[in-house]
Amino acid sequence: MRYITIALAKGRLAKQTMGILEKIGISCPEMEDKESRKLIFTNEELGYKFFLAKANDVPTYVEYGAADIGIVGKDTIVEENRKLYEVLDLDLGKCRMCVAGPASARTLLDSGAMMRIATKYPKIAKDYFNNIRHQTVEIIKLNGSIELAPIVGLAEVIVDIVETGSTLRENGLVVLEEIMPLSARMVVNRVSMKMEQERIGKLIEDMRGVLGQNEA
Ligand code: PRP
Repeated sequence: MRYITIALAKGRLAKQTMGILEKIGISCPEMEDKESRKLIFTNEELGYKFFLAKANDVPTYVEYGAADIGIVGKDTIVEENRKLYEVLDLDLGKCRMCVAGPASARTLLDSGAMMRIATKYPKIAKDYFNNIRHQTVEIIKLNGSIELAPIVGLAEVIVDIVETGSTLRENGLVVLEEIMPLSARMVVNRVSMKMEQERIGKLIEDMRGVLGQNEA
C-alpha cells in the first residue's frame, strides 16, 4: 500500500488535528515523544506518514506532491496561493483577518490617501487594498509582532490576524475593517485527489463525521 503523507502546520493546530484523527482511528504515538527530534512519523499499519512543517511551507509541500494532504490556516492558503484543492473546514483556530490601527487612522483610511500597511501577509493586504478598496498603498512586510508598527510609526495601519482582540486592545489599537474569516482547512494535492480518491475521500468523510458536518 502506498503511504498517504500528511503535512501539518506545527504547533497547536497539529495537536488538535491529531486529536481529530485519533477519533477516527488514525493515531501516531511516535509523535507524542517531546524529546524526539524526528521530523517524520509513520503509521505502518494504516499506511500514513505525518510531518510537521512551518505553516507557510505546508501549501508548497502539497502543491509539489511531497505531501498528499496538508492541514493549515486559511490565511496561509490565501497568502501562498498554491495550486491545490481545499476540501474541508476543520473549524479550528477560528479568527479574522483584519485591517487594524489606532482609531484615529479611520479618517485616513476613508480618505483614500496614500498609506503604509505593515503585515505578515503582503499578498492578502495588496489584494484587499488594490482590488476591493481600489486604493494604492505601500505594503511593508514584517515577520511578527505586527501591532508594533503603528505604535512606533512604521505604518499607519496593519493587516493581521485578530483572534481574541486582546493584543490590539492592550496596545491601544482597534479593528478598522474585517477582510475575511479564517480557520484551519484541509488541502489536497491535485494529482493525489485523483490517484487516491478512495482513501482520501473516506478520510474526508470520516473527519466530517467527527466534526459533525455530515450532510443529512
Ligand atoms: C497573532 C497575530 C496577533 C495575535 C492576535 O500573533 O499576529 O498578533 O496573534 O491574537 P489576539 O487577537 O488573540 O490577541 P502570534 O501570537 O501568532 O505571533 P506573531 O506576533 O509572531 O505574529
